[in-house]
Amino acid sequence: MEKTVVELFAGVGGFRVGLNNITAIDETGKAIEHKTFDFVWANQWEPSTKAQHAFDCYNLRFPSKTENSNVDISKVDKNTIPNHTLLCGGFPCQDYSVARSLSGAQGIEGKKGVLWWQINDILTVKRPPFVLLENVDRLIKSPAKQRGRDFGVMLRCFYDLGYALEWRVINAADYGHPQRRRRVFIFAYHQSTSYYKQQANESSKEIIAKTGIFAKAFPVEDFLETTIKKYDISGKYQDLVAISDKFHALFGDSGYMIDGKVYTANTKPFKTKSVILNDIVEKNGVAPHYYLSDAQKKKFEYLRGSKKILRTNKDGFEYMYSEGAMSAYDELSLPARTMLTSEGTTNRSTHIILDPKTNKYRLLTPIECERINEFPDNWTNTGMPEKRRYFIMGNALVCGVINKIGKQISIIIDNE
Ligand SMILES: C[S@@+](CC[C@H](N)C(=O)[O-])C[C@H]1O[C@@H](n2cnc3c(N)ncnc32)[C@H](O)[C@@H]1O
Repeated sequence: MEKTVVELFAGVGGFRVGLNNITAIDETGKAIEHKTFDFVWANQWEPSTKAQHAFDCYNLRFPSKTENSNVDISKVDKNTIPNHTLLCGGFPCQDYSVARSLSGAQGIEGKKGVLWWQINDILTVKRPPFVLLENVDRLIKSPAKQRGRDFGVMLRCFYDLGYALEWRVINAADYGHPQRRRRVFIFAYHQSTSYYKQQANESSKEIIAKTGIFAKAFPVEDFLETTIKKYDISGKYQDLVAISDKFHALFGDSGYMIDGKVYTANTKPFKTKSVILNDIVEKNGVAPHYYLSDAQKKKFEYLRGSKKILRTNKDGFEYMYSEGAMSAYDELSLPARTMLTSEGTTNRSTHIILDPKTNKYRLLTPIECERINEFPDNWTNTGMPEKRRYFIMGNALVCGVINKIGKQISIIIDNE
């Protein structure tokens, strides 16, 4: 089996950087790639801007006449996507509910613009043996009114297409990486693979605690069988609409689904010492515009302080919004907090550090943001405005986490 990959919602290529262990760029701007995995097609299109900065960056780092696609994925004829062994991508958490379509009694329709259905269409047409997805951890709990419905819909789609899967919520900093970023990773494998047959013989506890892909890449402390919860997404639910209408579940951080049966538990990571901000920040001072003016300092003080604000909700009711205080700046002795797309703007979530050389308050530089995500330095230094570099890093992922999962996938494919 070849290690061919299709990368969806590719952004600036976090999956590719992780899977092919990219640590540097050559003098022409190309990524220096250790080709463990062979990327045969990638798609990236930013709907909110005319300029396609993320795609341009991807294209510069991974130049190709044929493989990089810059159109809305919903406009792509899925039959034109090359065959591949691994489909990967990070996509938004949206509303996955479905309803019976008015046209044709058997038809089932999801909401327009929900990108999960694009992935589902590709799985239907191309049926890749393996799939690796990343999402915010909220996915497994959404929506608030029907906990676990959205993930239940996704699990049922995989089941209907003949896949088993494993998931794990991973905080990158627990396993040595420089950012406290919690994301859910999902690894699915088709029933046609020998890996599926091998996993089908293991107990759910063994898979979650020892033999599954995530337990191998991100070891957990052992836990008791009694903590495993079970759900059935087949059986009494006749189809996807039934799941969408009635299913709810309290999924744990770890889980496994095979043959419509879901096993889930909360696992405790075997933590490793993480890289901290001090290991990655510039030590020789930075350009003046990263330092905070007195006015900016005041603004950040307010934003990071505790406050109570009277707000009005969409139904016209007034309520008191309150938030607690954050420390005035981010400790260099800790890994970074979660980087959001608002990084670098005047926002409560933006990192503020005390510069190690000047001892003055400042923002992180784009290079430091790249390091927090374990991209090579200057990866997004492609001529785009600086604020886009922050935005794009807020959207990206911690590449080292993907690298660890990739090593396991590579072994699994070798064994096929
Ligand atoms: C969460 S980000 C993934 C970032 C990526 N993993 C990386 O390392 O940079 C999702 C990406 O999907 C892209 N996107 C959003 N809607 C899209 C669509 N309809 N078609 C293709 N790409 C889309 C966004 O521009 C964004 O780059």
